[in-house]
Amino acid sequence: MKIAFFDTKPYERQAFQALASAYPSLSLDFREERLTPATAPLAEGYPVVCAFVNDDLQAKTLEILARGGTRLLAMRCAGFNNVDLRAACGKMQVVRVPGYSPQAVAEFTLALLLCVNRRLHRAYTRVREGNFSLDGLQGMVLHGKTVGLVGTGRIGQAFARLMAGFGVRLLFSDPHPQPALLLETGGEYTSLEELLRHSDVISLHCPLTPENTHLINRETLRQMKPGVLLVNTSRGKLIHTQALIQALKTGRVGGAGLDVYEEEAGYFFEDRSSRIIRDDVLARLLTFPNVVLTSHQAFLTHEALASIAQTTLENIREFQEGKPLSHSVCQECPLHLC
Ligand code: NAI
Repeated sequence: MKIAFFDTKPYERQAFQALASAYPSLSLDFREERLTPATAPLAEGYPVVCAFVNDDLQAKTLEILARGGTRLLAMRCAGFNNVDLRAACGKMQVVRVPGYSPQAVAEFTLALLLCVNRRLHRAYTRVREGNFSLDGLQGMVLHGKTVGLVGTGRIGQAFARLMAGFGVRLLFSDPHPQPALLLETGGEYTSLEELLRHSDVISLHCPLTPENTHLINRETLRQMKPGVLLVNTSRGKLIHTQALIQALKTGRVGGAGLDVYEEEAGYFFEDRSSRIIRDDVLARLLTFPNVVLTSHQAFLTHEALASIAQTTLENIREFQEGKPLSHSVCQECPLHLC
């Protein structure tokens, strides 16, 4: 069975190729192009298309894929917010890789938090240029502070366990509370409003849905403690970036660690260092000394790449053998169309 992979990078291809011999009936064709309506015709004749977080999987693309014979869309990531499920429904099945390495993302979240808080990004470049001064590098002690987690699924729970070791007070907001997490971490579930009001650090770990798009906006930023540190390793559109920029300008937000950005497609994962940044919001974000922006990197560990490749190929094998799909997004489809 032929699989057309889009938007692939060498490190991903390596992970998939390492497993290819265990799946002799699957033929893996890797492409570097992002999947868009313009590139979708390249998948003609491929029953399976494998896509990633910044591929365009809106109605037009899915229509072209379906016309070309695609019956399975295998997302090699956890989130599927970029897939128009309404358009996919009835045309093709959609699978994903849930929870391939919550620790990878949780540990990176911690790294971003510590980096922003203790200004490691500035210290690193300063010292390399022979500037050994400490002015402007003050951080805060996390011990005793309040850390709020929005979303306590796999990644949120892993991050909560890491933060519990810092001796912080943990607040959680999630429509589906995990009672065991309370016992394990000593944290408490509360409303989003209370979490925003009391947290010194806020970290986002919920999936992006139409309901929580721009969850962090001018109003919710206004409810936060002055100087709050905001960390987002989930999805860029959870934050209204222009509102965040205003909050950084006034000091309402004291620092931000962002692994995702709402308009990241077209920039993230690419070397754009010789080109002009045309996105003024992104360019403004990069001017703040208290913002650390990374390029959707939180998942990038050897273990996570291997696990993504393994589960993706298993998902495709299930489809090939006509078995029920263990990781179909239909089970979690918020639209309930089927
Ligand atoms: P999960 O499905 O295990 O947990 C998500 C949790 O969020 C659930 O408990 C759900 O009830 C909760 N939730 C949903 N809407 C919410 C809301 N409005 N407020 C509070 N909680 C809400 O997902 P998992 O594996 O923990 O991943 C979370 C997200 O992390 C993914 O959806 C994806 O967007 C992002 N992610 C980012 C990666 C990166 O490299 N930066 C890698 C992998 C995932």
